[in-house]
Amino acid sequence: MSRVFNDGAVISPPGPPVLEEWYRQHLEKAELDISSSGVQPYTFSELRRIAGIEQDELDRVVMDDSTSQGSFELRQAIAERYADGRPDHIMVTHGSSEAIALTLATVLSPGDRVVLPDSLYHSLRQFTREAGCDIWTLPLGSLSEGAFPAEVLQDVITPGTKAVVVNFPHNPTGCTLSAAGYEKFVDRVAEVGAFLVWDAATAEITHGAEVLPNPVLRYPGTISYGTFSKVFGLPGLRFGWCTAAPETIERTFSLRDRTTLFLSPLVELIALHAVRAAPFLIEPRARQAQSNLAVLDAWIAQHSEAVSWQRPQGGVCGLLCLHGVEDTERFCLDLLDQHGTLLVPGTAFDRPDGVRLGFGGAEDELRAGLERLSEFLSTRSGR
Ligand SMILES: Cc1ncc(COP(=O)(O)O)c(C=O)c1O
Repeated sequence: MSRVFNDGAVISPPGPPVLEEWYRQHLEKAELDISSSGVQPYTFSELRRIAGIEQDELDRVVMDDSTSQGSFELRQAIAERYADGRPDHIMVTHGSSEAIALTLATVLSPGDRVVLPDSLYHSLRQFTREAGCDIWTLPLGSLSEGAFPAEVLQDVITPGTKAVVVNFPHNPTGCTLSAAGYEKFVDRVAEVGAFLVWDAATAEITHGAEVLPNPVLRYPGTISYGTFSKVFGLPGLRFGWCTAAPETIERTFSLRDRTTLFLSPLVELIALHAVRAAPFLIEPRARQAQSNLAVLDAWIAQHSEAVSWQRPQGGVCGLLCLHGVEDTERFCLDLLDQHGTLLVPGTAFDRPDGVRLGFGGAEDELRAGLERLSEFLSTRSGR
């Protein structure tokens, strides 16, 4: 059931991650983008209105250095929402990508036994490979009613494991854990004393599933990530954070000191207002995702001969399986060329059996993109 691959990635570093390369090559050509894992982004003027950011407050920002971990006030605001009010457990970063890079590059060493699901956001996977870890697979397909079977947890998360790295709700399938499945999972990681590396990028939008709390509240060995890039609708602000034990955060400083140093005080000020206004930013986009999902449910029911999916339980994307399509990359390229509509092939997530379809955007773009996808499917079936 499990397999180990230690593929020498340290000696021959991999090429660019498929996902980012896909967007680099194809996003500009897309008339309609129905591929994203994020909600519809806000304009700065919308953000200022919703979060109550006044022009003169922006003008008063002194463009000085900030601190490695981020301003106390900002960390306090994040901690109140996500980490039991403990600002020393928070570090703010340039998107969660930086938090992932700093923490994984710091805590992992060659030969460490690390457990990853068989499909995982590229940077979470890549840092473990580049560190030369022995990677063991947690099969997402074994999830049953939101829980990993006890024997899977016992077999895969064994004593001596250094870290278990997961992302729930999962990008791209939208699968997640139930409250009971979450407790059993976190407790098993705690039992073996491994780091629980928990990427919660889209935690706050769910569809019938519970919003899972930050596991750092249950298990102090957790390193978790949050971001403004998904449910907050602010990917262009490049703001994220990690929560972790203060000593784990401090260990990242020597790397941070040689790379990005700290965030801009301007970004920190905007982020402070945005985190305080979190419900007012997230709720409208969660409602939009909910009604878009109903549009998709109807579309999928109409096309049941050609497509199927596991309905996402969280986040704003899912993996659409295309019946009879072997090469999903070719499918996406042809869809883009012929209908100007962008999807992401599942190969970007080790799921070549489907394509990522996002439903967090504007409803008219989703409807128009689905219409073009319908046309494309019908021309293909008429071949
Ligand atoms: C699961 C997951 N984690 C982390 C990230 C990184 O996002 P950012 O650096 O914008 O916070 C992404 C972006 O797509 C993601 O999907």
